[in-house]
Amino acid sequence: MTQDVYRISKSIREKFKVFPLKPEDLSRLTNVGLEHFSYLKEVTSINFSIFFRVNMELLEFITPANFSHELVERIIVARNKDYQNLDICVRGLDYPKFQNLVDSVRSKKITTLLEKDPLLDRKTMQIFGNLSGASQMIVRGGISANVAQQAKKSASQLIDNLMESHVAIGTLSRMVLADATLYDHSASVAMLAGIIGKNLMGLSKDDAERCARGGLYHDVGKTCVPSNILNKPGKFTPEEFEIMKTHTTLGYEELMRAIENGAPIEEEVAIVTLEHHERFCGGGYPMGKSGRREERVDGISLYARVVTIADVYSALLMKRVYKEAYDQKQTLDIMRSSADRDYDPAIWKKFEKSVDRSNVHYKELESRPVDTSKGRIFFMDEDGFRPSNSIKTNKSS
Ligand SMILES: [Fe+2]
Ligand SMILES: [Fe+2]
Repeated sequence: MTQDVYRISKSIREKFKVFPLKPEDLSRLTNVGLEHFSYLKEVTSINFSIFFRVNMELLEFITPANFSHELVERIIVARNKDYQNLDICVRGLDYPKFQNLVDSVRSKKITTLLEKDPLLDRKTMQIFGNLSGASQMIVRGGISANVAQQAKKSASQLIDNLMESHVAIGTLSRMVLADATLYDHSASVAMLAGIIGKNLMGLSKDDAERCARGGLYHDVGKTCVPSNILNKPGKFTPEEFEIMKTHTTLGYEELMRAIENGAPIEEEVAIVTLEHHERFCGGGYPMGKSGRREERVDGISLYARVVTIADVYSALLMKRVYKEAYDQKQTLDIMRSSADRDYDPAIWKKFEKSVDRSNVHYKELESRPVDTSKGRIFFMDEDGFRPSNSIKTNKSS
């Protein structure tokens, strides 16, 4: 695929402010992901500026004074092209303001979705929202002691309020089909990894929390992969794939540096970032490890084996530039085709059963009568109809 180079036209230079950048200025800017930037379509004003970084120039494209949805759309169109020298960013100091805006749009979207689809589990959606806040801080803000503390808090909140596995798996899967913009990969990997660890594997609270935090951090190295490779719609060339693979080692190194600087992260959690693309029978990267660390010194750690399954499930569900979102059944079928080689069977068997159960559970709920006047689902029992939120389900193992 050809990669175009973005050029700031003369008319743009006349209309917008352009600043030259020195290398030391780069650390004062924070890149903004396209998914969350698109949330600005839902707001009416901003209290910070949005910049395009074009090589070593900074174009102030949207200011609080000229904010419009048309300008937001122009950035989205430009960013969707395969420009290799273009980033959307805000001043590092302004990033919390951007984050606040994203958080408020996210909670509005969650409320709307809950009203639209009564089968979504409210608690799952709320905890997912918290995890997503932590995941965004990690990906965009870098890992400081403060960010690591935030990750700890949301992982602990997840494990303390753990929902039934099939309800959470079903809600995540329905959410991505209903509103793909709400889906956050690292947050959903964290949620799934916590559920697998605690509900399915029966790990202790501490261990399950570490699985969840491993999920939050697992792709942190992707911030070092150029966005034209990260968002490439087609297949990677061998060279691009080599660059993509470095997100494991670079992420691990970043976490180890954060640990040295006092961030509350255990080395076992950092190792998840390094090992989450290893495969149970070998053939993964970066080291081509295989088996269980508990059984052989060069095996894959338990937390990484849990996160691997959560990662693949979440990545398949997710809508991407090169694929539509898959539903639970399609996702499970794809995973089954390589499960013998890729996943620890002791974890996979339990996960597979839980996703199957979730699929059956939601298919069954969908077939029940709907009171269209209120948009709620009602169930028939000996006392007649009762609303769906009074239904009790059995606790999954
Ligand atoms: Fe990854
Ligand atoms: Fe991932």
